[in-house]
Amino acid sequence: MSTTGESPAGTETITAPTPSASTNRRQPFPQGFLDTISQGWAERPEHLPPAREQAAYAAQRRAAVSVAFTGKRLVVPAGDLKQRSNDTDYPFRAHSAFAHLTGWAADSEPGSLLVFEPTADGHDVTLYFRERAGRTTTEFYADASIGEFWIGPRPALAGVAADLGLATAHIDDFAAGDADLVVDEDADLTRFVSELRLVKDAYELAQVQLAVDVTAKGFDDIVADLPRIIEHPRGERVVEGLFHQRARSEGNWEGYDTIAASGPHACYLHWTRNDGAVVPGDLILVDAGVEVDSLYTADITRTIPVSGTFTDIQRKVYETVREAADAAFDAAKPGVLFRTVHEAAMKVIAERTSEWGLLPVTAQEALDADKGGQHRRYMVHGTSHHLGLDVHDCAQARRDMYYDGVLEPGMVFTIEPGLYFQIDDLTVPAEYRGIGVRIEDDVLLTEDGAVNLSAAIPRTADEVEEWIARLSA
Ligand code: GLY
Ligand code: MN
Repeated sequence: MSTTGESPAGTETITAPTPSASTNRRQPFPQGFLDTISQGWAERPEHLPPAREQAAYAAQRRAAVSVAFTGKRLVVPAGDLKQRSNDTDYPFRAHSAFAHLTGWAADSEPGSLLVFEPTADGHDVTLYFRERAGRTTTEFYADASIGEFWIGPRPALAGVAADLGLATAHIDDFAAGDADLVVDEDADLTRFVSELRLVKDAYELAQVQLAVDVTAKGFDDIVADLPRIIEHPRGERVVEGLFHQRARSEGNWEGYDTIAASGPHACYLHWTRNDGAVVPGDLILVDAGVEVDSLYTADITRTIPVSGTFTDIQRKVYETVREAADAAFDAAKPGVLFRTVHEAAMKVIAERTSEWGLLPVTAQEALDADKGGQHRRYMVHGTSHHLGLDVHDCAQARRDMYYDGVLEPGMVFTIEPGLYFQIDDLTVPAEYRGIGVRIEDDVLLTEDGAVNLSAAIPRTADEVEEWIARLSA
């Protein structure tokens, strides 16, 4: 028998949980333990916190959802723990739509549901979650995945209600209905909550800036430790570990797996094996972003000459990528299409690769939308994506709100052109092979154009060389 609510210590007899396969290594609980485990604990403090800063913003977002789905019952799941192996799970990370609409982020509970119950004039919204069990329950001392004896304090309904400014209820009181619209199951609701994040509010902008600022420190950590990175046979892993330490100590985690791609690995766009050496004379491309406790993330790439200075050919490629990025920055204005930013960068890529004799056609022919594209062999990815709670934010937005959509003040996106000449690419002279460069900054669009949120991280070839000399000398 187990009970679910907190009851005065010692008023019930507790019996041991039924043994199962997962208890094959556990000692049995003798009666003396069971008779005493629920007693002798101090009362929990009654103190309720004030509503957190993001509560008011989340309420505005919920109001927009309510208006768009009048009369419908909506369910926004936080998601569940995912098994890694046997009885170990991946760290829990709430669904971004759930975090956006509740303000509950790194500290949220797996299995929670945000439910919009239709009323005559809108919706009653309730957050359902598995409240901590009382100390008279077996969960308290015997459940290694959620028991407080094992994982530490868990929240109560009243505390979360005050913290988030939301009605709360126990997950066992939630009853699913046939007509429920569920995020990630219903296409219209999934699209709506994704598009709701296209323009950021003041809280979100501050959190992205915070994520960028902590990420900048993570990049400094890497540059400062270049000598140790070079010494290690898997220097790329040392880079990953240095960034992870910064991400975990000042944020929640990384927003995505760090790409630490040295030498020819830089030409693999999402190289996350990170098991190579970092060799003097090569470039190392680091694409990394800290996700802060609100779950907003940065997404920054810098390409660094391992020995401190660019060779002539590395510098030529690097400064061309920067020229493409600068063209993209200049193109980013309210009222233009999102894809205009990409097109501005690609024009530079086509023109320069044509001048270098790498294309079998002219730059103009390469830029032809139907018959061209030859230059894209050297930069196959897009220049920009929205950024926020997800590194690739607003991923379920319609194309005509995203790639073919109009830029508006308050949008946050990346500008990240690159040039990648694979080690075995016979279309380029040998001196280019094995060079991969990407420069990625995070941008806020304002009435006046693009503001570079990551401007404090050295960016030009000269600045990058000075950065290495300053930190790793
Ligand atoms: N930072 C990885 C990407 O944008 O795909
Ligand atoms: Mn990116």
